[in-house]
Amino acid sequence: MRRVPEPFRIKMVETIKLGTREEREEALKRAGYNPFALKAEDVFIDLLTDSGTNAMSDNQWSAMMRGDESYAGSRSFYRLVESVQHFSGYKYVVPAHQGRGAEKLLFENIIKQKGDVVISNMHFDTTKAHVELAGGRAVNSVIELAYDTQTYGDFKGNFDLELLEKQILEYSPEHVSAILATITCNSAGGQPVSMANLRAVRKIADKYHLPFFFDAARFTENAYFIKEREEEFKDASILEIVRTMFALGDGFTMSAKKDGLVNMGGIAAVKDDEELYDKLRMSCVPNEGFPTYGGLSGRDMEALATGFEEAMSYDYLHYRISQVAYLGELLREAGVPIQYPTGGHAVFVDAKKLCPHIPFDEFPAQALCNEVYLEGGVRPVEVGSFLLGRDPDIGESLESPVEFMRLTIPRRVYTNDHMEYIANVVIDVAKRASTLKGFTFEKEPPVLRHFLAKLRPIE
Ligand code: F0G
Repeated sequence: MRRVPEPFRIKMVETIKLGTREEREEALKRAGYNPFALKAEDVFIDLLTDSGTNAMSDNQWSAMMRGDESYAGSRSFYRLVESVQHFSGYKYVVPAHQGRGAEKLLFENIIKQKGDVVISNMHFDTTKAHVELAGGRAVNSVIELAYDTQTYGDFKGNFDLELLEKQILEYSPEHVSAILATITCNSAGGQPVSMANLRAVRKIADKYHLPFFFDAARFTENAYFIKEREEEFKDASILEIVRTMFALGDGFTMSAKKDGLVNMGGIAAVKDDEELYDKLRMSCVPNEGFPTYGGLSGRDMEALATGFEEAMSYDYLHYRISQVAYLGELLREAGVPIQYPTGGHAVFVDAKKLCPHIPFDEFPAQALCNEVYLEGGVRPVEVGSFLLGRDPDIGESLESPVEFMRLTIPRRVYTNDHMEYIANVVIDVAKRASTLKGFTFEKEPPVLRHFLAKLRPIE
């Protein structure tokens, strides 16, 4: 596979250190075998997340100097609103400090009755949490192919349209608060959703008079896949595709820490429903701040407005998605099972296939993450049964349909040489995957255990 060179040159560098295996063994032990508790300084290449880990451009840094820090009605707020209106066509924009801030504003205002459902291709964990905190239930309806890591699909993040309709009828339309398209579908491997599928979802939403929202964290990456894989859009610009996608919806929440190319920020936007916009603004005041800053400083809003422009550049997206695909190809060539094809923001290694000897409640993907850290100072993240947690009613550990080690690639941060180093480390660990041991709890917090638990290896 041909490497796509980075479409930027480097003007400022930050030193990273590999250290020794002994140092990493000590650090991981101190962290309770949970990479979330590592000090970032003890990590060589940090693939925990693509969220807020972006490198900003010279244009973004200079835009920050123009930040208007007025409490109310700042110039920077209006610039951000114009930028969101430009790419989405939506009239109303409320800033938030990050994605989950925007999620709280939306779900507490659209879930009317306890037990009402939101149906998504696949909810991200904070999205599910906010649906539940608002009294609702989060239901997923992604296609079955999303769980089959070895079979190619152009759009493995698509809704299963039959299942979606079945679920609407099962819960009855008046108890469905909204349909939510997560683009790209993070939990299924950053897999895209096609325009054809989004159009069909819109039709179903219309049939049952349901609102249709986007969880738009990786909207430009989704648009890139549509351009590459849907004939109708091969000559369209990314901006045209983004507009076409959003025209199908009634609003979105967005973690701008991904495709906004910034380190902090979020947005809730509504197409034309003024009543809902007023509710969001009202919720914003006690939660995020006055609705013309919503948890962001003026300089953050400037950096974000510029970031949105840059994230819609085809050259940038081509490099971005190709870099992730390059890492995926190196692993596949060496026989490491991954979610195939690679999605937008990460390579998801299939730990169920690599470590079939480790049961789900001894966390095979966590075992793999820890070993990859020890081997080469690379910090991946587990997306599997450790993350999924326990059934809140009966307290039993839930078994996730997938056990992934996610190698999440920050935007514009690491080079293609780093990708080769990461691949070498993962391949070396994969060779001895059958000797890895599982983990059990030393200390398990009652909720969100993934972030705070302490583990110990099972001897
Ligand atoms: N929606 C999706 C699809 C996400 O991936 C995330 C965050 C959120 C919402 C929440 O946004 O973090 O800004 O509050 N995903 C990160 C990740 C944390 O590592 O995948 P946030």
